[in-house]
Amino acid sequence: MSDPIGQIHEHDNQAWFHPWEYLPDVGHNQRSIIQRAEGIHVFDEHGQRLIDGPGGMWCMQIGYGRKEMAEAIAEQALRMPYMNPFSLTSEAPTRLAAKLAELAPGDLKRVFLTTGGSTAVDTALRFVHFYNNLKGRPGKKHIISREHAYHGSTYLGATVTGKDRDRNWFDINTGLSHFLPSVNPAGRPAGMSLQAFCDARVADLENKILELGADKVGAFIAEPIQASGGVIVPPEGYLKRCWEICRRHDVLFIADEVVTGFGRLGHWFASEAVFGIQPDLITCAKGLTSGYLPLGAMLLSERLFQEVSGSNANGASFGHGFTYSGHPVCCAAALKSIEIIEREQLLQHVRALSPHFLERLHALREIPLVFDTRGMGLVGCVECRVRPLVESGMDGSELYAFETELGMRIDRHCHELGLMVRPLTNLCVFSPPLVIQRDEVDQMLDILHEAILRTQRELELELGLKLS
Ligand SMILES: Cc1ncc(COP(=O)(O)O)c(C=O)c1O
Repeated sequence: MSDPIGQIHEHDNQAWFHPWEYLPDVGHNQRSIIQRAEGIHVFDEHGQRLIDGPGGMWCMQIGYGRKEMAEAIAEQALRMPYMNPFSLTSEAPTRLAAKLAELAPGDLKRVFLTTGGSTAVDTALRFVHFYNNLKGRPGKKHIISREHAYHGSTYLGATVTGKDRDRNWFDINTGLSHFLPSVNPAGRPAGMSLQAFCDARVADLENKILELGADKVGAFIAEPIQASGGVIVPPEGYLKRCWEICRRHDVLFIADEVVTGFGRLGHWFASEAVFGIQPDLITCAKGLTSGYLPLGAMLLSERLFQEVSGSNANGASFGHGFTYSGHPVCCAAALKSIEIIEREQLLQHVRALSPHFLERLHALREIPLVFDTRGMGLVGCVECRVRPLVESGMDGSELYAFETELGMRIDRHCHELGLMVRPLTNLCVFSPPLVIQRDEVDQMLDILHEAILRTQRELELELGLKLS
């Protein structure tokens, strides 16, 4: 393919309706065109090489340009590109299901293959409803989620997503979902200890279950670390205590590991290895194929599966599935990506590199424009705020517009200096390919440091404020 740059922009503006399209800009967007990628780098239309800070969209584990991935995909596509998963079976999806069951914690031995993260979340939520219907508890359907959660863009995924602006102008099933307050320790009231904050957030869950009635609550859904909500790392012990509460009240625990799975936190799954919990269901996607092809999965506890199958099934079929469930080519990509992660010991690599990554990330706090830094494993976030503006009592929507601009300003400077970040309002988030090396982490954070300083200087001039 070799369309001229102008042609790509024209098609982009005239035809492609993008995810999260900012509609006022339609028709005159000048998005960067990514033309090729290699290792941890992408190359834009000017040939500029950029470190891929967000790792695609939190998905590029093994790095770009892997010949053996292309070969595994081509081999499967030539041999048998598609198979009807409703009535047939084949090697790639069965082998992948068995592999995921082996890697999953506890008794999560049943694997439902989906097309991505949102459909994995939908599958989990629909399973919860199906399960309770079959068990004769049709009222046990409410789902508890949390502020800042992101669980996808399907109707159900959006229904349990707790990011306000994502829901603006859309409908969700408001009778189904309930949102607990943010677990971001940086947002706790001044003077409140971390322990007291953790106690309060754990109590939120139990209080909500008691308020709704445990017989009405089907599940609690939580990302171990809230990713696109701003890399929110909950206080220590929070998740485990929530899991214990769920068990006490017979509420299923869904760990949404779409971002935290496949090495992002140095383990195949973070639930047990990092947080000491064994969820009833895990959803995953993204790093499952390292983003080379779309695929997701819901992993389900064998105990639950047994409760709805065989003589317990009451004649039921699980009437849910997708044309592309267990797509053989996508499964071949997942198997190869997992093989590479194993062979190159990328989980160990992440665990070894993470302390340095986090140390460099947290060192950014010395810059006055930086309000907070957060991270774990190889995922991180910098939150910037112009404190004098925040303290001036500026109107909320004006401040929001300004802060959105802030992330984009930093992104622009980063781009000039050779780094792509993902601006989310006043946040820049990172989840670089897991193959990143120590000197490349340094390069990435040196660039970010310089880009934030440049943004700060620019703002000082424009606003006539002294920030440093
Ligand atoms: C935690 C989490 N769950 C679900 C999703 C939805 O995944 P997908 O975009 O593959 O549908 C995302 C996407 O970012 C996510 O971060």
